[in-house]
Amino acid sequence: MELALVGGSLRPGSVSERVLRACADLAAEHGARSTVLTAEDLDLPLYRPGSPHRAARELLSALRRADGVIIATPTYHGGVSGLLKNALDYVEDLAGDTPAYLDGRVVGTVAVGWSEHGAATAVAELRTAVLCLRGWVTPMAVTVNSVPLSTLDGLAADAALRSDARLMRRLEILVGQVVDFAGTRLVTAV
Ligand SMILES: Cc1cc2nc3c(=O)[nH]c(=O)nc-3n(C[C@H](O)[C@H](O)[C@H](O)COP(=O)(O)O)c2cc1C
Repeated sequence: MELALVGGSLRPGSVSERVLRACADLAAEHGARSTVLTAEDLDLPLYRPGSPHRAARELLSALRRADGVIIATPTYHGGVSGLLKNALDYVEDLAGDTPAYLDGRVVGTVAVGWSEHGAATAVAELRTAVLCLRGWVTPMAVTVNSVPLSTLDGLAADAALRSDARLMRRLEILVGQVVDFAGTRLVTAV
């Protein structure tokens, strides 16, 4: 089973990217292979219909291959970051596919903010965008408070994230739903 994990920010030490990598490790425990596309991979020109960009082609090809998807966004001003929203706009180029857009693909959503509460509006906006792209959103969505990790350096931040039992349990449920639903996928991409 193939998953595409998409998200993160251009900020060094991005917590949404750390969360995605934790999700990749959880998915591997289920035997799923993940392609992780982080913010550097999503640093695309503003979407312009009909003008494919190399990095955009890689994003679309990972989504085409994927049985399931997990998207993690930073919360910017109550919503999805511009970088991630722009990347999602490129999914418009899957309109002519069969199935179109993200149809038939289960999509788990995560938002990271200065509080779990602060990230709630961003995860709701992300879920709406995924539904508009015909993605099958999982019942579980996860919001993450990045403040406890913000003063830690790389390894310490990863260790703190992965030792937060409550957060890891919620990510396990999210990844479990993506893997389970992807395994029962009814629509086969062509
Ligand atoms: C431009 C900007 C706007 C932000 N707006 C919000 C916000 O409205 N609510 C919130 O909870 N956090 C907000 N934050 C905090 C970020 O969501 C937080 O730093 C998060 O960790 C960013 O994700 P990252 O660690 O992957 O870069 C904002 C941060 C920036 C830089």
